[in-house]
Amino acid sequence: LADLLQRLIVLAALVAGAAAQSKPFSHRAHLKLGLECLGCHASAAQSERVEDNNLPSPRVCAGCHEKADIGAPSPTPLTKFSHQRHLKMGNFGKLIAAAIDSKTYLSPPGDIRRHLSTANPCAACHRALEESDAVGKANMPQMADCIVCHNQIDPPFSCEQCHARGPRLRPASHTREFGDEHSTGKLKLDKPSCVICHGRQFRCMGCH
Ligand code: HEC
Ligand code: HEC
Ligand code: HEC
Ligand code: HEC
Ligand code: HEC
Ligand code: HEC
Ligand code: HEC
Repeated sequence: LADLLQRLIVLAALVAGAAAQSKPFSHRAHLKLGLECLGCHASAAQSERVEDNNLPSPRVCAGCHEKADIGAPSPTPLTKFSHQRHLKMGNFGKLIAAAIDSKTYLSPPGDIRRHLSTANPCAACHRALEESDAVGKANMPQMADCIVCHNQIDPPFSCEQCHARGPRLRPASHTREFGDEHSTGKLKLDKPSCVICHGRQFRCMGCH
């Protein structure tokens, strides 16, 4: 019940927030004007921690808008990520594209492939912003992008490079009985979905 109440409060806050706000910020509309990522997100290139707020300062908008509402960054499941270190390595577009083409990319790539010829290093991870009227998950990298390079998979140890240790790493399918039940053939496992966290090759207590 407490959980339900919590959710209702969050929902009410969301509805109120939506009503109070004007239109969401559209990357599509602003990129069409020729504005660049770092023109607005200047701090991103130096950012070394996930806790950094790399959203624009309202000063950036002042030349064109009297008033600008800029919220807080969306929550991330990561505890560690450095924009600075990764941007120093160059543009990841080609590398991710090559993984998709060679079928070593470990999740369904969906619509990602057609965005990867970009000359903009930000857009190799944050795709499709030029088509986005409300920024969301589709504009954020998926775990499989990272695993193209961070490809030593050994749960839960390898996970802690990017995530906090703990139960959130386990998908909902992994009930307490899952270890025993998964081998019975009765669960109709979606096997391709396992590889992102278990890899293609693993051994487990002699059965695999
Ligand atoms: C170079 C000028 C320019 C800058 C800088 C700029 N905008 Fe805009 N903005 C525009 C224009 C032009 C439109 C209308 C675009 C359209 O409808 O295609 C717009 C539209 C918007 C809208 C939609 C408003 C509505 O009611 O249609 C929002 C919200 C917005 N901008 C927020 C921002 C924020 C926040 C910033 C700063 C981070 C910003 N803009 C920076 C030019 C700018
Ligand atoms: C005109 C300024 C402007 C430009 C140019 C711009 N952005 Fe943004 N960006 C914003 C604003 C404002 C937000 C916050 C939007 C919101 O909260 O709805 C945002 C949000 C984001 C987010 C999501 C943050 C979150 O909280 O989830 C990402 C990622 C992002 N931008 C990346 C980029 C990239 C990459 C580019 C270049 C392709 C770019 N932006 C160009 C203003 C800009
Ligand atoms: C290697 C992939 C990658 C590249 C390249 C990349 N980002 Fe990100 N970006 C991420 C990840 C992962 C997150 C979520 C974790 C975090 O917030 O640090 C994120 C979050 C963000 C956010 C929202 C949260 C925050 O930090 O405020 C913005 C804005 C953003 N990136 C902008 C950019 C811009 C601008 C560039 C290019 C200069 C860029 N990113 C390049 C992976 C990338
Ligand atoms: C092109 C290959 C490549 C991709 C793609 C990549 N990384 Fe990395 N990452 C590296 C390398 C190489 C290092 C070590 C760099 C260094 O120490 O300066 C690193 C370091 C890190 C570290 C620091 C690890 C530690 O123990 O200190 C984290 C965290 C990380 N990456 C997260 C991510 C996330 C999250 C993504 C996806 C959004 C990602 N990486 C995508 C190559 C990559
Ligand atoms: C190199 C960085 C990196 C490593 C290593 C990594 N992940 Fe992730 N993981 C990510 C990124 C980036 C996302 C966000 C993408 C998304 O939300 O779809 C993510 C998302 C997730 C999510 C969804 C979380 C949520 O709240 O939406 C789970 C669960 C997860 N990872 C589990 C794991 C497990 C288990 C491992 C170890 C086998 C692991 N991750 C290793 C980068 C990493
Ligand atoms: C008693 C033997 C047995 C043990 C022990 C076992 N598995 Fe399995 N596992 C199976 C069988 C049989 C299947 C195929 C089930 C099916 O077809 O539905 C399977 C399927 C899987 C799959 C789906 C992908 C694939 O390769 O078929 C994963 C991932 C998996 N097991 C992980 C593990 C992990 C991780 C462990 C160790 C903690 C483990 N298993 C221990 C027998 C076992
Ligand atoms: C989001 C990441 C993720 C996905 C996807 C995933 N697993 Fe796991 N799995 C984990 C983690 C984390 C553990 C716990 C590892 C540990 O603590 O030893 C685990 C453990 C297991 C175990 C050991 C028994 C247990 O419950 O701890 C089996 C068996 C297993 N997974 C099978 C599968 C199968 C089969 C699939 C695909 C249907 C799958 N997993 C998909 C993250 C994942």
